Amino acid sequence: MNRREFFERQLLMGAAWVVPGLVGAQGMGGMGGMSHGMEHMPGMGGMGAGQAMSGELAVADAIAGHAPLAGLWRLPNGSRRAGLFQGRLEAAPVQLELIPGFKTEAWAYEGHVPGPLIEVREGDRVEIELVNRLPQPTTIHWHGLPVPADQDGSPTDLVAPGERRLYRFTLPPGSAGTYWFHPHPHHHTAEQVFRGLAGVFIVRAKEDPLAALPERHLVFSDLRLTRDGRIPPNGMMDWMNGREGQFVLVNGQRRPRLDIGETQHWRLWNACSARYLRLTLGNQPFMLVGTDGGLLASPREEGELLLAPGERAEVVVQPPEMPGPGVLVAAAYERGKMAMGAMGPAPEQAIPLVDLMYRKSRARAGSVPKILRPLTPLGAVRVTRQVLLTEQMDMARMHASMGADQPQGMDFLINGKTYDPMRVDFQSRRHEVELWELMNASDMDHPFHLHGTQFQVTERELDNRITPEPFLAWRDTVNVRPGEVVRIKVAQALPGKRMFHCHVLEHEDLGMMGVVEVV
Ligand code: C2O
Ligand code: CU
Ligand code: CU
Repeated sequence: MNRREFFERQLLMGAAWVVPGLVGAQGMGGMGGMSHGMEHMPGMGGMGAGQAMSGELAVADAIAGHAPLAGLWRLPNGSRRAGLFQGRLEAAPVQLELIPGFKTEAWAYEGHVPGPLIEVREGDRVEIELVNRLPQPTTIHWHGLPVPADQDGSPTDLVAPGERRLYRFTLPPGSAGTYWFHPHPHHHTAEQVFRGLAGVFIVRAKEDPLAALPERHLVFSDLRLTRDGRIPPNGMMDWMNGREGQFVLVNGQRRPRLDIGETQHWRLWNACSARYLRLTLGNQPFMLVGTDGGLLASPREEGELLLAPGERAEVVVQPPEMPGPGVLVAAAYERGKMAMGAMGPAPEQAIPLVDLMYRKSRARAGSVPKILRPLTPLGAVRVTRQVLLTEQMDMARMHASMGADQPQGMDFLINGKTYDPMRVDFQSRRHEVELWELMNASDMDHPFHLHGTQFQVTERELDNRITPEPFLAWRDTVNVRPGEVVRIKVAQALPGKRMFHCHVLEHEDLGMMGVVEVV
């Protein structure tokens, strides 16, 4: 049974068990009144798979806003040798005061949420020690970076509580780009990330055509807090739709301010578990200059920019002729989230992320080079593979799993299967160009992500219409809409087992993940 049928059936049966505590929840009418998503109802977001309501949610302005945008904390380089970065990342619980007067226990790398910025150059050797002081096993996965498979923090390479391990890799020429890192232990990735574990990673090129522009870093993360400052566990709806909190933070701040007095180069990270960010500057365009894996061949003017969970972008923002205020907004985006009892989509809302102040421009406009770098399309395809994304709901199993940490009977599948660490789904040869057809036969968007390398989208097909990808770009994450087929070309350079999965972290934890072994 698919999700829509499942919900229709539940509606007829009276769905109170799906979300315990539903009846009598504040602002809730009868079943017929549930015409929008649970996450829009106060107090409904935080319910565990089987537990009662875990407390009312904090109001939307409980975290103070409007401070100047903070820079990211940089992980210090412990090495003095040129070309070597040595650092330490301790993952541990930390007490933060996000809501005045209340302590929030978050999980953080080196005490920072979001985690630190690691900045290196192409060709650098990187050695980072992970120290696990969490109550769960963890790993560090270097999202998007071309690191050896045994250094990539796969779910099978767990670091137990109290243990440590050293990650070591060298970043090859051409790897300059905007990456990030986060835990990847199976079943616990979503939790570890929504508790605060994620940091960002920039690899700089030897020759940077944008070096003259001042850089701003914007890490978007999602947070749900109860009124008394706790980060509640996932509920059924979170597992199904992917978790979205009531706060979208930028560098850990709510709705910060940013002055734009000159042309700026922004790096953007969508580090949210499930939230899509359809970014706009109102009437101001973005100049898109880069994607996950670095610069485009040349800049492109874009009115808006959709960043799926896990995706990054580089943009250039120029102050308009007229100085004045502006806003960076995440506009409404309908991604097929299932609302309790609603047959239509949940209404989405625009979220202001950053208040901008455009100042009189001193720098000349048009200081962005027309050519950024050469990009070569991947060559002739040797192998074609299909990756089918589906979902399946099983009422009886869901029922039986009430009270469990992670629900059963809510299956998000790749080629009909959930993740099995012992299974190899595909075997690929190093450097061989493959065409992967990513097909979404489910009711909601899924951001597809592949480890170990960057890929190139060649075309997208929806309703029998094929749209060739308008520009060449290196990506490691691409959104696939319901009914859509996205075709990508990929060649893996390094041997070993790599994951591919949906980057809605709850879906990944529920098993929407496969393994490609590169030989
Ligand atoms: Cu950012 Cu396998 O993930
Ligand atoms: Cu990854
Ligand atoms: Cu998904």
